[in-house]
Amino acid sequence: MEVFAMTTMKRIQYHRYGGPEVLRLEDFQPRRPGPGEVLVRVQAAAANPMDWKIRSGELKIMTGRRFPRGLGHDFAGVVAAVGEGVSRLGVGDEVLGGASMKAAGAFAEMVVAEEAAVVPKPPGLSWAEAAAVPIVGITAFQAMVGMSKVRSGQAVFIHGCLGGVGRAAAQLARANGAAVSGSCRDTAAHAARELGIDPVVGFDFDATSLARRFDVVFDTAGTLPIGTAKAMLRPGGRIIDINPTPAKFVRATLPGPFRLLIGKAVTADLDAVAQAAGAGVLRLPIARTVPLDGAIAALTELERHRTPKGGKLVITTG
Ligand SMILES: NC(=O)c1ccc[n+]([C@@H]2O[C@H](COP(=O)([O-])OP(=O)(O)OC[C@H]3O[C@@H](n4cnc5c(N)ncnc54)[C@H](OP(=O)(O)O)[C@@H]3O)[C@@H](O)[C@H]2O)c1
Repeated sequence: MEVFAMTTMKRIQYHRYGGPEVLRLEDFQPRRPGPGEVLVRVQAAAANPMDWKIRSGELKIMTGRRFPRGLGHDFAGVVAAVGEGVSRLGVGDEVLGGASMKAAGAFAEMVVAEEAAVVPKPPGLSWAEAAAVPIVGITAFQAMVGMSKVRSGQAVFIHGCLGGVGRAAAQLARANGAAVSGSCRDTAAHAARELGIDPVVGFDFDATSLARRFDVVFDTAGTLPIGTAKAMLRPGGRIIDINPTPAKFVRATLPGPFRLLIGKAVTADLDAVAQAAGAGVLRLPIARTVPLDGAIAALTELERHRTPKGGKLVITTG
């Protein structure tokens, strides 16, 4: 029997933009994957700040007004069906990937994603570890490797070095031979040092001692004053920000070191970070794992209190 004719599945969805109170765990009918799409039976899915930015309506210019909308992007699971023209993946493949920003819906028993945003899961990774990779891995990769081509002899500063993207960027930059410094909460400095980050400073650091030291300043939090970031650069260095605002879009068009990065689902980049995770070069700790029927409470707590710290919130459905 075709999977689309099966009984309904569960997913976390919402019927209007709003706070975490709009979330519901409800039945839905998985749709047939269209050309270039795959349907995946989700085993684990990971939360990102983007999930609640979309649900709040902050990005509705891109995500539209069609409801109900599913929540969640990052997932790992097993391909259940493929659409026309899909050639790289087949039914039964173990994969990790991301649902598109517009479609979302990974916090579910099944999700449809574009084939280009899905790659094989390295066998050594658990479902939860694999689900943690896509958004933070691809963003960190495109910042450190695609945009900056960091290499031996270079120095990188990461503002927010223990967040998902920051931690991934620190590991990828170090794997490419760069020296990495960064900021984090004072109480977590030991965890940053364990990643080889040195020096480690607090969020409100005094940049005087860090002047003209870095080839790349990567502001994952989007809070570093531009004057501070510029003062930290070596000649020819660049500042990368991943938290867009209208003013930052304008700044990014002007001559100078400032760049705004919006991560894109490039298959080769996702494959590279998946392999880095499989090889243990990229390690993204899991702070908490919850089943789908406990996920709304955990997502609400994460959004309101930014807890748990120290790793990803992963939702398991397998
Ligand atoms: N443009 C893109 O393509 C793209 C892609 C991915 C993510 N993003 C955005 O980038 C941001 C980071 O994403 P993420 O997944 O890494 O989030 P995350 O895992 O929640 O990490 C955020 C980090 O920022 C730290 N932080 C909090 N306040 C700070 C401050 N004042 N100064 C410096 N750091 C501070 C947090 O520390 P504590 O945990 O100690 O509070 C945490 O380590 C989010 O806003 C996300 O939406 C953009």
